[in-house]
Amino acid sequence: MTTMVIEAQDARRRGTTMSTVAIEARGVGKAYDEDDVRVEAVRRVDVTIQRGEMVAIVGPSGSGKSTLLHLLGGLTTPTSGHVLVDGTDLASLDDDALAAVRRDHIGFVFQAFNLVEVLTVEENLQLPATLAGLDRSTATARIDELLDLVGLTALRSKRPSQLSGGERQRVAIARALVLRPAVVLADEPTGNLDSVTSRQIIDLLHDLHRAGETVVLVTHDIKIAAQAERLLVMRDGQLTEHEHDSVAEDVVEVIDRLLDTT
Ligand SMILES: Nc1ncnc2c1ncn2[C@@H]1O[C@H](COP(=O)(O)OP(=O)(O)O)[C@@H](O)[C@H]1O
Ligand SMILES: [Mg+2]
Repeated sequence: MTTMVIEAQDARRRGTTMSTVAIEARGVGKAYDEDDVRVEAVRRVDVTIQRGEMVAIVGPSGSGKSTLLHLLGGLTTPTSGHVLVDGTDLASLDDDALAAVRRDHIGFVFQAFNLVEVLTVEENLQLPATLAGLDRSTATARIDELLDLVGLTALRSKRPSQLSGGERQRVAIARALVLRPAVVLADEPTGNLDSVTSRQIIDLLHDLHRAGETVVLVTHDIKIAAQAERLLVMRDGQLTEHEHDSVAEDVVEVIDRLLDTT
């Protein structure tokens, strides 16, 4: 792990963060060219994710939500604009440094869980620690803490195929947190889950937020989105901030209207 990353993590643990901004996007765009057709998946998006925020991004299918999340986490290179993670402009990094930022600063949670099937729950959590060169006792303590947090201590020796969908997603969320990322980016994490299990996963993300984590949650479920403290609406590649008060039902109505007009 780089010295910079260790310092950042130490600073976070002490609560004396280097900056209050986790991720900043400035005029970020992503265009795909296919067969002479240009698709502008994301258009000139400006957004700042503050540390400790829980942000929901909602929008219809194809509006650019996943592309934006990938841009924010350095999984995709923008065709215009800049993304800063923990104050570092991703465009200034070579491939190795970019991979290190992704690994050490960003925790991704995907709809399809993306667990390693041949590894146990515990080994899936050890993987990022090993890749980052975390020493064994630190890693073990962190993994124990996370298994407890997501309620999977008793299932630590199971393989993903032996788990329910909700349990798999809890493993994926724990895995995203192993290296104490600046931000957790979750792309429709309940997309493959039934409504009861979805509720549990969203409750877990809210618990993480209350415990101080920064969470960006992409969803097409307006009821889920309405519960986040900050709501962004994606339409045709563009992002609009949506002011909302604490009355969730009002927000659901407003978003319903917004999505209807697409
Ligand atoms: N790798 C890609 N190549 C070409 N077009 C893409 C690619 N990824 C996404 N797109 C297009 O960009 C637009 C936004 O997609 P996406 O970000 O996946 O939206 P959402 O997550 O909101 O459903 C869509 O029109 C999609 O077809
Ligand atoms: Mg998507």
